[in-house]
Amino acid sequence: MRIPEHLAIIMDGNGRWAQKRHLPRLIGHRKGVERVQDVVDECLALGIRHLTLYAFSSENWGRPREEVEALMGLLGAYLQRELKRLPMRRIRLLAIGELDRLPEKIRSVLDEIIASTAGNNDLVLTLALSYGGRNELVRATRTLAREVAAGRLDPEAIDEARLAGALDTAGIPDPDLLIRTSGETRISNFLLWQAAYAEFVFLDVLWPDFSAAHLHRALGEFARRERRFGLTASQLDAGEEEAGH
Ligand code: FPP
Repeated sequence: MRIPEHLAIIMDGNGRWAQKRHLPRLIGHRKGVERVQDVVDECLALGIRHLTLYAFSSENWGRPREEVEALMGLLGAYLQRELKRLPMRRIRLLAIGELDRLPEKIRSVLDEIIASTAGNNDLVLTLALSYGGRNELVRATRTLAREVAAGRLDPEAIDEARLAGALDTAGIPDPDLLIRTSGETRISNFLLWQAAYAEFVFLDVLWPDFSAAHLHRALGEFARRERRFGLTASQLDAGEEEAGH
């Protein structure tokens, strides 16, 4: 079966899962963290090389203060646990987003894990934290504009590769498959540039109920779809022959 090299997930529906059970939203988020741990293990077992999770969006800062604090608390606890486990587990951790908006304690544990897992490469786990695709593009534009203003970059030399290299995801391949749970069918400002050719699979399951079976269903759907990147089928066949497979 054709497996995506890079899987990205919008983990949605924690709040609704809790509401349905008359529980505080925090309990839904807590269950959500358990699913994060399961999906990371499953991706490692399947040989998926990149997993990117939308854990906290730029827009999530606008949620009630108690919920933001609860999410930061869960994230901090998750990272503390992973700090002990990840270096031994063939997983490399990366983070994308406006990381300087995160609490200092979270930033420092993140830096520590990123440094201590830098040599691991079975699975690259990228957490999108305080992340928004438009914000990322604005920051990348500023980076390039500063280079131009300093006389180090010719505006004509700015091409797709140069812009991609200024994004938080520089060096990470584009996602091949993007899954969103909870039945919503929006991209919600996630990986706007990078998802240009991604396959989208929307699942009608709330994130705390997401299981290995749901992941396998999405992977099966991905394997069945034909990806053409804007080319014709015969152009693609010719390209594959050239590449020798
Ligand atoms: C969407 O549920 C989910 C989030 C806002 C954040 C996802 C966060 C986690 C799974 C936990 C933290 C992650 C890590 C990596 C430790 P929602 O609250 O928007 O659900 P709703 O749409 O039903 O209200």
